[in-house]
Amino acid sequence: MLKTLTKQVGSFKTASMLTPIFIALEVVMGVLIPYVTSWIIDEGIAKSNLANVYKYGAIMLVLAAMSMIFGILAGRFSALASSGFARNLRQAMFSNIQTFSFSSIDKFSSSGLVTRMTTDVNNLQNAFQMLLRISVRAPLNLIFSILMCVFINTRMSAIFVIALVILGTALYLIISRTVKLFTQVFKKYDDLNNVVQENVSAIRVVKAFVREDFENKKFGKAAQALYSLFVKTEGLMALNHPVMMIVVYGCIIALSWFGARFIVAGDLTTGQLTSLFTYVMTILSALMMLSMIFVQLTMSAASGKRVAEVINEKATIVNPENPVMTVANGSIDFDNVCFTYNKTGVPPTPATLLAGQTAAAIDDCDYAIKDVSLHINSGETIGIIGGTGCGKSTLAMLISRMYDVSQGSIKVGGVDVRDYDLETLRNNVSMVLQKNVLFTGTVLDNLRWGKSDATLEECVEACKLACAHEFIQEMPQGYDTLIEQGGANVSGGQKQRLCIARALLKSPKVLVLDDSTSACDTATDARIGKALRDYMPAVTKIIVAQRVHSVMHASRIIVMESGRITGFDTHDNLLKSNNIYREIYTIQTQDSGDFDKPK
Ligand SMILES: Nc1ncnc2c1ncn2[C@@H]1O[C@H](COP(=O)(O)OP(=O)(O)OP(=O)(O)O)[C@@H](O)[C@H]1O
Ligand SMILES: [Mg+2]
Repeated sequence: MLKTLTKQVGSFKTASMLTPIFIALEVVMGVLIPYVTSWIIDEGIAKSNLANVYKYGAIMLVLAAMSMIFGILAGRFSALASSGFARNLRQAMFSNIQTFSFSSIDKFSSSGLVTRMTTDVNNLQNAFQMLLRISVRAPLNLIFSILMCVFINTRMSAIFVIALVILGTALYLIISRTVKLFTQVFKKYDDLNNVVQENVSAIRVVKAFVREDFENKKFGKAAQALYSLFVKTEGLMALNHPVMMIVVYGCIIALSWFGARFIVAGDLTTGQLTSLFTYVMTILSALMMLSMIFVQLTMSAASGKRVAEVINEKATIVNPENPVMTVANGSIDFDNVCFTYNKTGVPPTPATLLAGQTAAAIDDCDYAIKDVSLHINSGETIGIIGGTGCGKSTLAMLISRMYDVSQGSIKVGGVDVRDYDLETLRNNVSMVLQKNVLFTGTVLDNLRWGKSDATLEECVEACKLACAHEFIQEMPQGYDTLIEQGGANVSGGQKQRLCIARALLKSPKVLVLDDSTSACDTATDARIGKALRDYMPAVTKIIVAQRVHSVMHASRIIVMESGRITGFDTHDNLLKSNNIYREIYTIQTQDSGDFDKPK
């Protein structure tokens, strides 16, 4: 974890090195000042020598000015280094997230990734800045001040040793408890973030189900838990101050008591006693700072782990060594394909499976796709139909290698999808995902996601095919109308049509529409289907749908049930031979009355 994180300091190494150097210089200047004070008192004030007061006063001013300059420089460089560190961390996380396969996104969850990129990186940034500034300042202050004390009066410095032991023990007791509590605080933070993110991203659903009260209570609970823990933690932390004050005043009393005796005996001057007073403060506050770093580092260790996990996540779907750069045609072959989302299960080996393993053994393995073999000709229009959760989307996503198959192989254009260059494959197998989104920007910007250099004419043509042209024209600024985040200002059906147009602009060899017309009315759905068949005869079209009339005009239809294919034929043949298809058809046509009753 440390290696991953320190690598991200990157170009800010110089600033990170300069900070402690300037802090060391600042500390040296600061430590010398009390010593010069003792000269002013002993050589100037005590001897009524004004010239000495001026001389040592001037030295003190120079030291103070230099200490200030070094302090400012240290502050600047530490800010630069820590903000740069945070920027690099975010950049590294973001660019690695771009390489994530769907399974990695499933693993971290979108909201989890957001927390890691914000709260966790902030924690690390603060810890890093503190580390740069205090981890050098506090020990140096401690060492130099103790040295100066020993140098001034060895016997008197015994007082500090006793004070250090008392303060050290007290701080240890307080800190060890706080660290435990802080670890819990961060867990509670995660809970709170989860509640907020889930609620905000699904606020419409919350409102639709009138779950505001429930959500309020859920949030209140998380917030209350965090509040109570914070009060407890901060209450403990607040003990630091009085403990330190008791020790400081104890030291001052002891110093005054022994100091007075030493001065009477002539072993110590008044000036030296004054500077000892200053050093006692410095030593004890250095100790205090060290304890704070300890707390901060412990707090950020959990964040560091979470950030490093994202940076180190290896892309599971990568380009092969000598990738195939062209897709010959739109034919698709599934060869004994099995797929599971559950990576922990142990699937049967291909050998045992092919040797005729029983279907039950495959079912045991939590497969979303079970032993699918099929051949689709280039240019065919294929419908996929089946109940919810039967694996339609999964089957479709495997074609463009959103996930890798657990067993068997999938070929597009006669070549295994794992042998293609990923970009080539995904440009040629254009997918309109079931959960599709638009991005903030104009209609044109969104369309050009499909093809960055598409001309307006090309965009219009794609929109006409996807039946999106009419409604875009009616929008206030036509193709320049701004689409809000997530496509909030277009209807579900309009969003789907824009997504189809965007996919068409890729001029793919295979076009997969995963339930992409579900929010369109029946007439529009039929028009889109017809347009695709008529104007894109060479493109293989895979149309996943819940409605029979979205797929009934396809050349052939795949009927799925629980991850298996139970029928793959034309509409007419399926009506005769496939019970599930006939059932779906009957129910849907009877309900809507759109179609003739089955013969
Ligand atoms: N990301 C995922 N992680 C784990 N399991 C998943 C994931 N996505 C889908 N599944 C599971 O895989 C099975 C098939 O899901 P899939 O989305 O392919 O169904 P579908 O036929 O497209 O359903 P629908 O018609 O509702 O879209 C389901 O049992 C589902 O619970
Ligand atoms: Mg689906």
